[in-house]
Amino acid sequence: MDSDQTALVGRSFDSLWDSLLPIGRDPRTGGYRRFAWSAADREAKEWFHQAAAARGMPVEVDRNGNLWAWWGDPRPGSVVTGSHLDSVPDGGPFDGPLGVVSAFCAIDLLTARDTSTSGESGGRRSIAVVSFTDEEGARFGVACVGSRLLTGVLDPSQARRLTDADGITLADAMRSAGHDPDRLGRDDEALSRTGAFVELHIEQGRALADLDSAVAIGQGIWPHGRWRFDFTGRADHAGTTKLADRHDPTLAYARTILDARRHAERLGALATFGKVVVEPNGTNAIPSSVRAWLDARAREDATVEELVSAIATASGAAVDRESWSPEVEFDPSLRTRLAEVVAAVIQPTPDSPEAAPSPRRSTVPILGTGAGHDAGILAAKMPTGMLFVRNPTGVSHSPREHADRADCLSGVAALAAVLQDLAGGRGND
Ligand code: HGY
Ligand code: MN
Ligand code: MN
Repeated sequence: MDSDQTALVGRSFDSLWDSLLPIGRDPRTGGYRRFAWSAADREAKEWFHQAAAARGMPVEVDRNGNLWAWWGDPRPGSVVTGSHLDSVPDGGPFDGPLGVVSAFCAIDLLTARDTSTSGESGGRRSIAVVSFTDEEGARFGVACVGSRLLTGVLDPSQARRLTDADGITLADAMRSAGHDPDRLGRDDEALSRTGAFVELHIEQGRALADLDSAVAIGQGIWPHGRWRFDFTGRADHAGTTKLADRHDPTLAYARTILDARRHAERLGALATFGKVVVEPNGTNAIPSSVRAWLDARAREDATVEELVSAIATASGAAVDRESWSPEVEFDPSLRTRLAEVVAAVIQPTPDSPEAAPSPRRSTVPILGTGAGHDAGILAAKMPTGMLFVRNPTGVSHSPREHADRADCLSGVAALAAVLQDLAGGRGND
């Protein structure tokens, strides 16, 4: 990027970032609560429409509620980039939004390059910026609902029946937000338009900080899933029921949490009980039930199966699998192509030892991740890749999640180069 382009990307990034930042932020915690089909989600989607309109990009809402902003006519085999705008409870600002903001900034950079060559796009493929709906599954329990429905891996009737903590079904939440749930389902037209998908995302571990690189290429995603555990007990009086007479389901739950940790350590896997509902939830009442959700991940499918089966068997709970994402390896030839293109544009960290012999990095790290992404769902249907932007602390799914602005701008430069390469037309400049 020349200095004009660097300044332009900086301005675009700041303006998009600052306008998105207040949406869905909880002032008490500083975290984000942008749950699917909520008021905050509607506001974030409105932000997307405005960002697209400001760039003259028409927006299409597909049958599953995913938003597509088009740079060029929607055509089969287009290049698609983007991520998601929803969040986990008290999520950070970058997980999802960085990919959408960077996509619009990359479009601004490509537009500026076209303008400097009299608007020639030179037979390029169209590019779409997508925002997938309900990636986190924070409200209805299943992650990547928008991309699962799009690709046909989630049955529309099953999706419509998903229910939030207040008993509202996904179908009703969609209707209240003005989306017709009867339209849900595999979208062959949207799929055929997507010739390749590249998602930029904040890294959700410390790998890039340790490797001293602002950007990495995704290698693959660990298999992972969510299981619901129902522990049943008997409600009773906290002040009169002898310990020996109690049927307190929290004891089994507590043992199960410790078991999960032990088995995860034994297998080199990850196990988390991050959500729990205790009934009736009164300080002076022995609980009648505990419903808790296990998130389990490992390098291989068989390890996750062994982990969950060990935890479930000893728990005494009724266990139900709510979602499953098998292991993903991103398209190797696309990965190689991304690595070459990104290596050509990413500057080394100024004080890195590589700075002296060469002004460019010669290689870009290739990283696997334990985090799920819409790219993992799309990977089964089309050439798909990911770019990760350095996260200096590795913290994510937390208000403390952070990426430095300079690294975000490196991410935009990398993404723009990738889009330019995949869409064809004029060469990089
Ligand atoms: O849960 C996940 O892995 C993700 O960040 N959606
Ligand atoms: Mn996330
Ligand atoms: Mn994400």
